[in-house]
Amino acid sequence: MKVSIIFTHFLLLLLPLASSLSSPFSDGFLHLRSFSPPRDNSLPPQQQLQVTQPLPSDLLTPACYVSLLSHSFGQTIGEPPVDVEYSSPETCPSPSSWSNIVLEMNATCIGEQYDRIAGVWLDGVEILRTSTPEPTPDGIFWSVRKDVTRYSSLFARSNISISVMLENVFNDVYTGVFHVNLTLLVYTESAVKSPSIGDWFKKLGFGSGVSDGSDGNWLAWDQKPADLIVPVSDNGDLGFWFRIGNESVVGSRSVEIPKNARKIVLELYVSAHGDDEFWYSNPPDFYILTNNLTTKRGNGAFREVFVRIDGNLVASEIPFPVIFTGGINPLFWEPVVAIGAFDLPSYDFDLTPFLGLLLDGKNHSFQLGVGRAIDFWLVDANLHVWLDKGSEVVEAGAALHHPPRFGESWEWKLDGLDGEFEVEAERSSHSSGWVACSCGNVTTRVVRKIKFKNKIKFKGNGTYKSVKQHVKLKTEVTLKSSSSSDADDNDGVISKRTLKRKYPLTVIIDTQPGAAADTYLMRTNVSHALNEKSSFGRLSWTSYNRQRSGGWMAVKDHSVLSGAAHTHQSFSSRNQSTCYTRQVEAADAELLTDVSTSVCPSILHELLDKYLFLGW
Ligand SMILES: *[C@@H]1O[C@H](CO)[C@@H](O)[C@H](O)[C@H]1NC(C)=O
Ligand SMILES: *[C@@H]1O[C@H](CO)[C@@H](O)[C@H](O)[C@H]1NC(C)=O
Ligand SMILES: *[C@@H]1O[C@H](CO)[C@@H](O)[C@H](O)[C@H]1NC(C)=O
Ligand SMILES: *[C@@H]1O[C@H](CO)[C@@H](O)[C@H](O)[C@H]1NC(C)=O
Ligand SMILES: *[C@@H]1O[C@H](CO)[C@@H](O)[C@H](O)[C@H]1NC(C)=O
Ligand SMILES: *[C@@H]1O[C@H](CO)[C@@H](O)[C@H](O)[C@H]1NC(C)=O
Ligand SMILES: *[C@@H]1O[C@H](CO)[C@@H](O)[C@H](O)[C@H]1NC(C)=O
Ligand SMILES: *[C@@H]1O[C@H](CO)[C@@H](O)[C@H](O)[C@H]1NC(C)=O
Ligand SMILES: *[C@@H]1O[C@H](CO)[C@@H](O)[C@H](O)[C@H]1NC(C)=O
Ligand SMILES: *[C@@H]1O[C@H](CO)[C@@H](O)[C@H](O)[C@H]1NC(C)=O
Repeated sequence: MKVSIIFTHFLLLLLPLASSLSSPFSDGFLHLRSFSPPRDNSLPPQQQLQVTQPLPSDLLTPACYVSLLSHSFGQTIGEPPVDVEYSSPETCPSPSSWSNIVLEMNATCIGEQYDRIAGVWLDGVEILRTSTPEPTPDGIFWSVRKDVTRYSSLFARSNISISVMLENVFNDVYTGVFHVNLTLLVYTESAVKSPSIGDWFKKLGFGSGVSDGSDGNWLAWDQKPADLIVPVSDNGDLGFWFRIGNESVVGSRSVEIPKNARKIVLELYVSAHGDDEFWYSNPPDFYILTNNLTTKRGNGAFREVFVRIDGNLVASEIPFPVIFTGGINPLFWEPVVAIGAFDLPSYDFDLTPFLGLLLDGKNHSFQLGVGRAIDFWLVDANLHVWLDKGSEVVEAGAALHHPPRFGESWEWKLDGLDGEFEVEAERSSHSSGWVACSCGNVTTRVVRKIKFKNKIKFKGNGTYKSVKQHVKLKTEVTLKSSSSSDADDNDGVISKRTLKRKYPLTVIIDTQPGAAADTYLMRTNVSHALNEKSSFGRLSWTSYNRQRSGGWMAVKDHSVLSGAAHTHQSFSSRNQSTCYTRQVEAADAELLTDVSTSVCPSILHELLDKYLFLGW
């Protein structure tokens, strides 16, 4: 009897009860609303929110709104994405006068429903990866705003399609239909009346810079949206994302890069689902085998998304683990969702050093995959390409490419259902290549370093599980001009960009038999953060985003019968001229505190800076 109880709750933690789930898109829990007190019907639907940096344009009035799509997603599983035609809005100011464009997704849902993953593509280029909250019988509402200025060249086009994929199951049990509206907001005025970019540029000590004839300097040159965006995505019948079910599945697309490309950046979109939704908490297979468990959630806790060109590894990423609203304990994520749940982060790789290979006028195969993956991951990418408008052909050559180096170590202890599993991995890469365009001969050097550490512990005969993970990433992109007159004080260096990211994660799950048969009592804690620091010359940007949650729930199968939960979130960001902090506290689906300020606690920031980014 006891055996079956323990095994069953392992199933709960580790195994999606595939047969009892009507959709492969949910492995978290469903929050049954029967236990929550009914809300006052005269109140508007509860707004669900994600705490993020406000957009600089939020305070401005858009020059125009364009309704892009309005659709209700009921029974949509297995169907192709919803497609509508998009044309650059004629009623809006022309694209050349856009300062910012913002995509807004407003949505409602009423009933019982799991969280679902969704993607938005413009002409096959992914512009938003989002997940939905779980609704209530009284209805919920949420609004996601994303600055999509970097996709301006696509939004300036006409007669292309905008597609939305949101696979949902609609039946007597899962009654929630997602009503989604997408709107484009166009801004023409600049958000911040800051010193001109040229002034900043001079202060950075980069000299006068190298001009491409139109912008006047490198800073502006570097920050303009790409001229062309080429998708590395699937054909679209089941969404444009590639579905990666194991390590040997590779999503690939043959692409021809224009001969006058001078810069290329690959932007990666990724999300983990199914048996890998909680990849960071998967024990090694031998733990599962030794204990005769039936869960498929194994293969250890290390995953790495990789990018290859013609079969050669050029970049890799350990993605930030986004927790969907049904994840670990759904009561944590109401009404404040987990970091990134409404706007999953995408990851940029500067591939300019590889232009020497790509500018031969031939097609090249861009390939995406996930190392150690188990079923399944949704992955695609966009190639942002900047063209040299002053010439038809750009010359480029590789100076150096060290194939990324990888090191890994494992340690474990195993004693029946108890055990400890530790994995550490490190990846470093280094590439450099030159591009000779009408702007001069510039060498781009990209150095990347990733450190990963994960420890999973089982105690109490397997009833207590803790996961501690640390990920640290550092990317440095340096541009060097070969004509020394451009910036002789700086050894030819005309621009240097650094990005550091850290994302610690701790999950604790303690499971005990519940009061009623087939029910379980789970005490859970989650603490995670996404900390970033980027610098560009002497300009810098730092942001800290941390959530801590604790609580309990009574569970039967995948349903939460009752429980209590508390989440505290602390967000703070800063650069030379602005700062923003927001503290949010929520408990039992109510927002208790939500305070934001733009007053800089600079000493605190400096301490955090030193402490959080120590060792880089
Ligand atoms: C631990 O769990 C296993 C499997 O459920 C069970 O057979 C065993 O008796 C338990 N051991 C203890 C000490 O409770
Ligand atoms: C979307 O929701 C936000 C937040 O409530 C609201 O400010 C905005 O006007 C809505 N957008 C549209 C197009 O209704
Ligand atoms: C979507 O737009 C329609 C038409 O403007 C409106 O009636 C509906 O309330 C909107 N829904 C949401 C979720 O914003
Ligand atoms: C888009 O399609 C419409 C109708 O097919 C056509 O009239 C229009 O010229 C096209 N616009 C562009 C920019 O191709
Ligand atoms: C990986 O997945 C593909 C596609 O589902 C399948 O054909 C292949 O056999 C799998 N490979 C392994 C090693 O499991
Ligand atoms: C070459 O790439 C282009 C897109 O860049 C694509 O349309 C074309 O089909 C590719 N050709 C081959 C032979 O794959
Ligand atoms: C697992 O199953 C095998 C074969 O049925 C059995 O010999 C072994 O004792 C089982 N191990 C555990 C830990 O239950
Ligand atoms: C550009 O600079 C690199 C390194 O300084 C050099 O190897 C290359 O020959 C130069 N290319 C051209 C076309 O001048
Ligand atoms: C877990 O959450 C509970 C309830 O909020 C809290 O009392 C406890 O201190 C937390 N434990 C840890 C290890 O954070
Ligand atoms: C600081 O950040 C704000 C908000 O994102 C931005 O508008 C502004 O341009 C930044 N200032 C500098 C000097 O980078």
